[in-house]
Amino acid sequence: MSRDSGAVTRAIKSRINIVDVVKRYVELRRMGNRWVAPCPFHQETKPSFSVNEEEGFFYCFGCQAAGDLFDFYSRVNGLDFKETLAQLAEEAGVQLNEVRTDPRQDKERSLRKLTLNMYAHASKHYQRNLVSPAGAICREYLERRKLDQAIIESFELGWSLQEWQGLANSLPQAGFTLRQGEESGLLARSDRGSSYDRFRGRLMFPIKNLSGQVIAFGGRIIGDEDAAKYINSTDSPVYKKGDNLYGLFQARRGISAKKSAILTEGYMDVLTLHQYGYTNACGALGTALTPEQVRRLAGFCSRLELLFDGDAPGRKAAMRACEMVLAKGLRCSVITLPEGEDIDSLLHAKGTPAFEELRTFAPDGLDFCIRTLSSTFAPKEALEWVKAFILSVEHAELLPRIISRLCQGLDFDEREMRRMVAEKLPASAAAQASGRGSAAGGGKGPAPAGKNGLNKGLMQLLVRYPHRAPQLQEAGLGLVLTESWAYALWEKILAAGPEYDPETIVRQLIPAEKEFWIQYRAMEAPPEGHEEEEVAAACRRIGEIRLEKQDSASSQIIRQHSSKNDYDMALLQAANETLLLKRARGSADE
Ligand code: UTP
Ligand code: MN
Repeated sequence: MSRDSGAVTRAIKSRINIVDVVKRYVELRRMGNRWVAPCPFHQETKPSFSVNEEEGFFYCFGCQAAGDLFDFYSRVNGLDFKETLAQLAEEAGVQLNEVRTDPRQDKERSLRKLTLNMYAHASKHYQRNLVSPAGAICREYLERRKLDQAIIESFELGWSLQEWQGLANSLPQAGFTLRQGEESGLLARSDRGSSYDRFRGRLMFPIKNLSGQVIAFGGRIIGDEDAAKYINSTDSPVYKKGDNLYGLFQARRGISAKKSAILTEGYMDVLTLHQYGYTNACGALGTALTPEQVRRLAGFCSRLELLFDGDAPGRKAAMRACEMVLAKGLRCSVITLPEGEDIDSLLHAKGTPAFEELRTFAPDGLDFCIRTLSSTFAPKEALEWVKAFILSVEHAELLPRIISRLCQGLDFDEREMRRMVAEKLPASAAAQASGRGSAAGGGKGPAPAGKNGLNKGLMQLLVRYPHRAPQLQEAGLGLVLTESWAYALWEKILAAGPEYDPETIVRQLIPAEKEFWIQYRAMEAPPEGHEEEEVAAACRRIGEIRLEKQDSASSQIIRQHSSKNDYDMALLQAANETLLLKRARGSADE
């Protein structure tokens, strides 16, 4: 569902006040017509976070986080848009799918609901076991592993009894059939047709989705030396291996705040990292990192610290992870652990300084790949890897630097590589790779952070005083803009008229414009009287620029031919301005 299929989101916004929602997460104080607080999205104590209740958006001066009710809710809770919509719709009492009566979908939905309920039940069951007398062996184990009670609780660890029918006996009492238990992957069925617990005698790690619901388990054996060390839930109506990350639910705020995630392999590693304050750690759940997992992480941060074993399989896994992360345009570094050590054992043995040292000296992802390629790959293999990697990079703009770094690091011929890429990639990407890419922002990516201070300054003013658009137009604002993003924004605001309605304007803005709008609307409103001065100053500046422009060749003609005739002067000037206007428009349309 797209965000602009607006009826539902508008209905929700009309019923839920953004201030009421934000108040649940931060201490909002009133300041003039705004609400302010320390920002929940980066670490600070100053109140740089502000909410504009009337217009329904938030903005942080510190970290530039900005958006509306939906943006806030999804970021602070680490939810994707669909989940956000579902939860806010429920809260607002807005029906999402009134017309949907497809019986198959209904059935799927009720099966998912049933499965979630069963996992919630199982999780409570395992947690109760852990604190019961039968859980003593597991509690002792946790103590030996030096895991704090706070972590045990926040990660809701549990214990599956050393019995065949522990959970199986509890399910019918809770209203589930044994058949349902089997279908959910919690129970298995013996040859003789009886159901039994799949997880027995194991420390249970519940795996949660981003809404905090338990959707699967990992279980570590305790005691029995012969059993598999870990078993994990099978795929079910609510869980697909490789789609989720262990601990992401608990780590999501840490990741948002630090704008970076630590990714490790083991369950215990995640817990120990959190215990030592690395609250942005999560785990890949015993699989190689998947594109889906990277996509999820990329929703919260653009930087990953990848933790891997220093041995050969570990380095290989790290290479694959880097490949995927870098291809998506994220930053990463690779922390390799000393052989025989994992982060859990390292932190307990040597504390955070040892880990901090590893982090500090961890190579950047591309450097790690270069080092590994040159030390362990044959040149031919390295070349194959580099070619495949370059072709997988999703943002052509990144290619020039990536190609240079790889070729320099590996002593490959850079020109040859660019030629190869030019043959294989679509034209536009190949142009980037061969250094012919244009640096100018095109039509669809306006650069509100614009290099040209004049365009940006005028647009800031306009966004703060949209009702002044007619006056600024009269002064010739449209004639002095030189950047297409600014011109596009100007036209939209001008079209809204002096009786503008912010909602209507915002709805017409593309995301980058919206961000700009929100950013400068949220600026502390200057005191009364200032507005007049600011607008007057802008008009004077516009006048000056227009005069400067008239010093150009075309306006020299004006002076030569009509200096004594005011009427002709005005006409020619108008013609000149039409020309300038066309030029501005031309660049806006490109
Ligand atoms: P490890 O064998 O390194 O275990 O597996 P660990 O996490 O360090 O556990 P401890 O410290 O010995 O208790 C790393 C991860 O690989 C997955 C699990 O996710 C595990 O945490 N794994 C491992 C499995 O899924 N199955 C296995 O049999 C072993
Ligand atoms: Mn371990």
